[in-house]
Amino acid sequence: MKGIILAGGSATRLYPLSKAISKQIMPVYDKPMIYYPLSTLMLAGIREVLIISTPRDLPVFRDLLESGEQLGMHFEYIIQEKPNGLAEAFILAEEFLQGQPACLILGDNMFYGQGFSSMLKRAQSTQKGATIFGYYVKDPRAYGVVEFNEHNQVLGLEEKPENPKSNYAVPGLYFYDETVVQKAKSLKPSKRGELEITDLNRLYLEEQRLHVELFGRGFAWLDTGNCDSLLEAANFVATIQNRQGYYIACIEEIAWRNKWITGKQLCELGHKLEKTAYGQYLLDLLK
Ligand code: DAU
Repeated sequence: MKGIILAGGSATRLYPLSKAISKQIMPVYDKPMIYYPLSTLMLAGIREVLIISTPRDLPVFRDLLESGEQLGMHFEYIIQEKPNGLAEAFILAEEFLQGQPACLILGDNMFYGQGFSSMLKRAQSTQKGATIFGYYVKDPRAYGVVEFNEHNQVLGLEEKPENPKSNYAVPGLYFYDETVVQKAKSLKPSKRGELEITDLNRLYLEEQRLHVELFGRGFAWLDTGNCDSLLEAANFVATIQNRQGYYIACIEEIAWRNKWITGKQLCELGHKLEKTAYGQYLLDLLK
């Protein structure tokens, strides 16, 4: 399975910040936002990742993340000229995917909680169909909303409904089988002119091959869509890291624990950043 991070779009709710700098390059506490979705893909065991962004921002991501070799990974980059919708990612990714299954994560979505890695591995190993997730929120109207029965079978999906049929929002993390490119190509733009991820998911639903996994109460799915949620996310990361001493979304640590890089390589990465607490953390892992 290959991974895709969609890190483009307009981020208008962070205006005027987004005018000056890509949203996903902005730090959430002590590391760039894109580290969080990247770490999710890594926890799913995905080593080949395509980063999609705007003509303005893509070079910045390339500068930051390079070829991926330093993490024992492989990164590719492709431009999305306009925010034509999340499902366009699969059309852009056709060559990169080479007929393989895909996991898409939005560049501004953050996940944290116990049991997450095993959930990811389970979703990754599902052979046919698609896996999406459900997360209980007080007000789901700003999201894709999923309705399901007691066997976790999806009954319906709606994008930003005025009258949601459930409180379960669909986070920006999706696992698809190899038919995803062909399905994405068959979509028509919605009323707001976008190829909707919800319409793509509906195609899997029609085939009765859409699975939903629910995140529990103790799980954190954090939004970084506006200034308040960005600050809350940063405070969350700081609280956990300072209390436990474990870092959230430390991509070098995950690469090392996945045995994609050696202790020697981790040490070199740590030394490059040794004047920072982040670099010290990397070096301390080896003690
Ligand atoms: O965050 C989860 C939600 O993401 C889902 O519940 C919804 O079903 C899904 O449609 C999406 O809703 P949003 O309103 O959050 O999507 P938004 O247009 O804000 O895009 C999410 C991110 O993806 C944002 O950082 C911009 C980026 N993006 C968006 C579009 C439409 C792109 O890179 N390219 C695009 O074409």
